[in-house]
Amino acid sequence: MVKTLFPTNKNEPLANYIEGILSKYVSLGESKVLEIGCGNGRFGVVLGGRVGSYSGIDPDKEYIEIARKNFSEINYKVGSAEDIPFDEKFDVLFYSYSWHFILDFDEAYSEMRRVLDDDGIVFIMEPKGEDSNWASPVLNRGTPEFNEDLLKRKLKDLERGRKAILENNYFDVVEEIDERSKIYLLKKKK
Ligand SMILES: C[S@@+](CC[C@H](N)C(=O)[O-])C[C@H]1O[C@@H](n2cnc3c(N)ncnc32)[C@H](O)[C@@H]1O
Repeated sequence: MVKTLFPTNKNEPLANYIEGILSKYVSLGESKVLEIGCGNGRFGVVLGGRVGSYSGIDPDKEYIEIARKNFSEINYKVGSAEDIPFDEKFDVLFYSYSWHFILDFDEAYSEMRRVLDDDGIVFIMEPKGEDSNWASPVLNRGTPEFNEDLLKRKLKDLERGRKAILENNYFDVVEEIDERSKIYLLKKKK
């Protein structure tokens, strides 16, 4: 199967937008950021130089190899939301369009609590739904590759992910943004 690669250029405006939101919660220049589900690393290249440290994990070994090759200064490891291969604490956990891929949210929350600093912030960015501009043509209506069943499954996963955010017992949703994407900011319950 052909792998979807996320373009590593033209991400500056989106990175600026993300930086603007995160800066309300942490001093980003000194923050330790972990991107969970980093794919081929398109955000590491733009955010990596603006933070204290940037690490990325993805369960897909091939993506991690590509990310490492492109951005050798970033600490990329194979791992998943349910099994984070770090023992240290982070100030920011960043999920860019990866949250709805999580299969076991109980495990994911347990890992988030383990690796997030008590004052840290979780930033979850998700596609808006039906009208998203999907990276894969199979999800975009009007393309020859469009597949209605796959889109339906994707929308179900997004709803499952949203429920897992709004109904969780360990983190408060401190901000919800509904603009180009859906964004949720979470803090550990005190
Ligand atoms: C749509 S891609 C987004 C990639 C990247 N964050 C970006 O925005 O360019 C979703 C990513 O989530 C990863 N993923 C799938 N299951 C995951 C899991 N259980 N935990 C963490 N990441 C996962 C996939 O391998 C894929 O790289």
